[in-house]
Amino acid sequence: MKSTTELPFVRGFVRLCEIGDKLGFHERNGGNTSYHLTDDEIRAARALLKGRKPGPWTDVDPKGDVAVPQLAGHWFLVTGSGKFMRNVAYDTEDSIALCELDGDGSHYRIRWGLCNGGRPTSEFSSHLMIHEVKFRVSGGRTRVLYHAHPPCLIAMTYVVPANDKAVTRALWNTMTETSVIFPKGVGAVKWMVPGGRAIAVATAKLMEKYDDAIWFFHGALCSADTFDNAMGQMEVLEKSAKIFMTVQSSGMKRLGAIVPAGYRAIAKAFNLNLPTRFL
Ligand code: 13P
Ligand code: ZN
Repeated sequence: MKSTTELPFVRGFVRLCEIGDKLGFHERNGGNTSYHLTDDEIRAARALLKGRKPGPWTDVDPKGDVAVPQLAGHWFLVTGSGKFMRNVAYDTEDSIALCELDGDGSHYRIRWGLCNGGRPTSEFSSHLMIHEVKFRVSGGRTRVLYHAHPPCLIAMTYVVPANDKAVTRALWNTMTETSVIFPKGVGAVKWMVPGGRAIAVATAKLMEKYDDAIWFFHGALCSADTFDNAMGQMEVLEKSAKIFMTVQSSGMKRLGAIVPAGYRAIAKAFNLNLPTRFL
C-alpha cells in the first residue's frame, strides 16, 4: 500500500461522505463524520506516515473545556470544519484529517490531511466526548459517528415534541421495520448551539443508552460499528421521517397505526427487547 487514501478505513470513510452527499443529507459544509481507529489501523497508518512531520499540538476544544482521558493516544479520522461533503472524494487530502490525541486527551495533532490548512470539524470536541462514551458502553465496537442534515427529519422536529418517547414513537410508527433498526429507541436533543459544550454533554448522555440522537431544528447524529450501519441508520431515520411528514401533510384522516400487540409480535419475530414505554 502506497498512500493513506488506500487504507480500507479511509476508503470506507470517503464512501460514506460520498453517499451522504448523493442522498441530499449535506448542503454546503453541513454535517460531519469521525472514525475511531483500531490499534491495527493506527499501526498501518503510522507505517505509511513514517518520516512525515506531524502538525502542532492543538486544544481539542478551542475554549480548553474538553478532555477525553479514556481516549488518550487514540487516533481519529475526521472531516474538516467548513469542508463540503461533496468534496471529500474529489479532494480527500484537503477535506479530511487523521488526528492523534495526546497523553491526557486534551490536545490533538494532525498526522495527515487538511493539506491546505484548516482544522477538524467545529464539532470535534462533541464527537470525541461521544466516542468516549461509546467506547466504554460498546466495549470498543462503536467506531463511526455520522452527523447529517436530512431534510424530512429536520422538518419532523417542528411537529413532534422534543422528547425521546415522542420521537421514537413517531419514527417507529412509519415503516414496520423501523423499530427493528432502532430497537433501543432514538434520543431527542432540544435546540442548542452546535459545537458547544452543552449539546455535546446532552448528546453524550443520551448515547449511553441510544445509538442515534436527533438534534432539533438541525439534524441527527448516528453511531455505529461500521460505515454501512451508520449510513443505514441515517437513511432509515430520514425515510421514516419522510413517511411521517407525508402522512401528516396529506390532509387525509389517519385510519391505522401499528398497535402495541404488533410491536410485541415484531419483538418476538426479530428477537428484540423493545422498551415498553415506546409501545
Ligand atoms: P463543520 O463544517 O464545522 O463540521 O460544521 C458542520 C455542521 O453541520 C455543524 O453542525
Ligand atoms: Zn450540523
